[in-house]
Amino acid sequence: MMDIQFGADYYPEHWPEDRWETDAKLMREMGLGVVRMAEFAWTRIEPKEGEFRFEWLERAVNLLGKYGVKTILGTPTPTPPAWIIEKHPEILPINSKGVKAAFGGRHHNCQSNRTYRSHAVRMLEAFTSRFRDNPHVVGWQTDNELGNSHDDLCHCPSCRTAFQDWLQSKYGTVEELNRRWGTVFWSQEYDSFLQIPTPAWNVTAHSPSLLLDWKRFHSDLICDFQQFQIDIIRKNCPGHMVTHNFMGFFDIIDYFKLAESLDFISHDQYPTGFFDNPQPGKTPAVLASALDLMRGLKNKTFWIMEQQSGPTGWTVLGRTPEPGQLSLWAAQSVARGADCVVFFRWRTCTVGTEQYWHGILPHSGNPGRRYGELKETISRLAPVMKEFKGALSGAEGAILYDYDQNWSLEIQPHHPDLAYIRHVQVYYDAFHKRNIPLDFISREGDFSSYKLIIAPLMYLMTAELEKRFETFVEGGGRLVLTMRTGVKNRDNVCMAERELPGESGDLLGIEIRDYDCLRDICRTVQMGAGKNLSAEKWCDIISLKGAESLAEISDGWYPGNPVVTVNSRDRGKAYYVGTEPNKELALSLADTLIEDADLLPPAPDAEGLEVVRRRTDSRDYFFVLNHSGEEKEFTSPAGWSAVSAGNGAIPPYGYGIYQTDR
Ligand code: GLA
Ligand code: ZN
Repeated sequence: MMDIQFGADYYPEHWPEDRWETDAKLMREMGLGVVRMAEFAWTRIEPKEGEFRFEWLERAVNLLGKYGVKTILGTPTPTPPAWIIEKHPEILPINSKGVKAAFGGRHHNCQSNRTYRSHAVRMLEAFTSRFRDNPHVVGWQTDNELGNSHDDLCHCPSCRTAFQDWLQSKYGTVEELNRRWGTVFWSQEYDSFLQIPTPAWNVTAHSPSLLLDWKRFHSDLICDFQQFQIDIIRKNCPGHMVTHNFMGFFDIIDYFKLAESLDFISHDQYPTGFFDNPQPGKTPAVLASALDLMRGLKNKTFWIMEQQSGPTGWTVLGRTPEPGQLSLWAAQSVARGADCVVFFRWRTCTVGTEQYWHGILPHSGNPGRRYGELKETISRLAPVMKEFKGALSGAEGAILYDYDQNWSLEIQPHHPDLAYIRHVQVYYDAFHKRNIPLDFISREGDFSSYKLIIAPLMYLMTAELEKRFETFVEGGGRLVLTMRTGVKNRDNVCMAERELPGESGDLLGIEIRDYDCLRDICRTVQMGAGKNLSAEKWCDIISLKGAESLAEISDGWYPGNPVVTVNSRDRGKAYYVGTEPNKELALSLADTLIEDADLLPPAPDAEGLEVVRRRTDSRDYFFVLNHSGEEKEFTSPAGWSAVSAGNGAIPPYGYGIYQTDR
C-alpha cells in the first residue's frame, strides 16, 4: 500500500452531497491521503432496525478514492440511535448515584448490556461485510475514544452482574475474596458473590480492594467491548487494519491491554485542551509525554487520528493557535513517533455540540489561513516521513508506567495533591528539559534494552516485580524507585511482613520506619551545590542499610534525613527518592542519573528548544522544535546535515529537521 501520511476526519453526512467533490479536490491539493468517517453515523447507516443505507457512504468513499484519498471507517457504537433507546431504555447507563443518563449527546450506552451488543453486532456485521472489498477502504477505527464520558458509569443491574461474574472468575470462591479483601473490616463479609455491590453511593466509603477491582473490571469491560468489534472486523475484513483513537494519559482503561489486539494505536492530540473543563496547562513536555506514552503502548509507531487543526471548545473557546503553532504541534507528533497525522476535522460544522471545535476549513468551507499553513507543512514533512517510517526514538532510558498504581493512588492519594500522572510528569519534565529521550514501558515490558528505568510510586508490589527489578540492576541497569514503593500487594492490602519498602529494601540498601505527609509545607533539601531544592507532599524517614545518601532534608524535625539514596549491586545501582521532588530537585536528580547511566543528549546546546530523534538502522533524524513565540538561535552539532531547516535560527513556533549517519 502507498504511504498514508496525512488525513482529516470527515463528516460527509453533515454537508450536501454536491459539496463532496470540492472537498475531495481540496484534500488532494493539500496532500491528504486518508479520511476517517462514520464513527457517529449510526442513524444514517441504519435508520430503522435492520434497514441499512450504505449507498451514501459508499458514494463518499468512492468519490474520495477517485481523488486518491483512502478511508478508515469508524464503528458508530458511541452513538446508539434514539430508536434503539426507545425500544430498550435499559441500555442507558446509570451513574454511582443511581441516576440514569438521558438520551442525547453520545456515549449513552452501558457497555455490558447484551441487548445493546446484539444491536451493535447486527449493525457491524452488515457494515463490515458491505465494505470488505471496497478498494478505497484501508481499515477500521473501533468506536471512538473508548471510556470517554464513562468515568462514573455504569451501575446498572447488567454491570453489577458482570462485576460479580468477573470477581467470581478472579477469586473462585467468595471465601477467597473475603480473605484477600479483608472484608472482616466493618463486617463486610459476603456469603455469595451476588451480595457484592458496585461502588455506588453509600454513606461512608467502599473498601479499597473493592474499589481497585472495580476499576480493573471497568477497564476489562471496555477492552471486551472493543474486542467483540475487532472479532467481527477481522472475520469479515481480513485485509483491513484495525486501530482505535486513544487519549494520552486518560486513566480509566489499561491502555497497554486495550492496545494488544490492534494493529497499531492512534492518538488524539489537542494541545490547547478541552476548554469546557479546566485543564492542567499543556506544556510542550506534557504534549511530548503523551506522545511518548502512546508510542510505548506497543513499542511501535502510531497514527494521530485527531490532531488539532484550529481553535477548540464546545461552549467556551481556547486561544486561537498562532501562525505556525498547528504545524509545530503536528511536527512534534511526527517527531515522537506518528507515521500518519489525521487532522480533526476537515471543516468546522454548523450544527451540533461541536460548532466551535474548528476544523482545517472554517464554517464557510473556503480555504483560509489554517488550510494554507497545514498544506505547507505537509509538503515539508511528507518526504522525510517516508525515510523514517516505523523508526522509534532509540531511547536508553524509560519510565515504568502502571495503571494499577494510578488507580490505587486515585483511591487513596495520601496527600490531597498527589496524583500519579503528575508525579510521573515531574521526572519526565526534567529529562525533557535536557532533551534526553525516554520511553514508557509497562511492568511486563522488556527492561533489558535500557540503561535507566525510573519506576515512580510502585505502591502495589509483587515478588515477581521485585525480582525483575533486581535482575535489571544486577545486569548493570540504573533503577529509580520512589516514595510509597512496596506498600501494598495487588489486592490493595498493606503488606506487613517487612518494614518499608518491602523486599526491595535489600536492593535499595534502606529501611523506612516513619514518614511525614507534607500537608501545607515542603521541606528544604540539600543536594550538592543545587539551589531551591525541596521535598513536596511526602517525606520518607530513611535509615541507611548500606546505601549512600545523595540528598538530605535540612529543616524540620528530621534534619539530615536522607531523601535521595543510591545503592550499588553488582554492576548496577538502585536509587530511591523518598519524596516528590520539586522541579529543581528533579533536575539535579536527572543530571546525576544522566551522568551515571551515560545518557547522551542528541544536541548539547539547545537550551529552550525541544530536540527529538527518530532512529533508523542507518541514520538519526532530528527535529528541533521551538515552542516559543520568539526566534531561537540554534547551531547544529558537527555531522548534522539540514533536511529542512533554515540557517542558524529557528523561527517562532518553527522547527528544523536534520539528519546524521550513524
Ligand atoms: C474528541 C472526539 C471527537 C471530537 C473532539 C472534539 O477527541 O474524538 O469526536 O469530539 O474530541 O471535542
Ligand atoms: Zn451498565
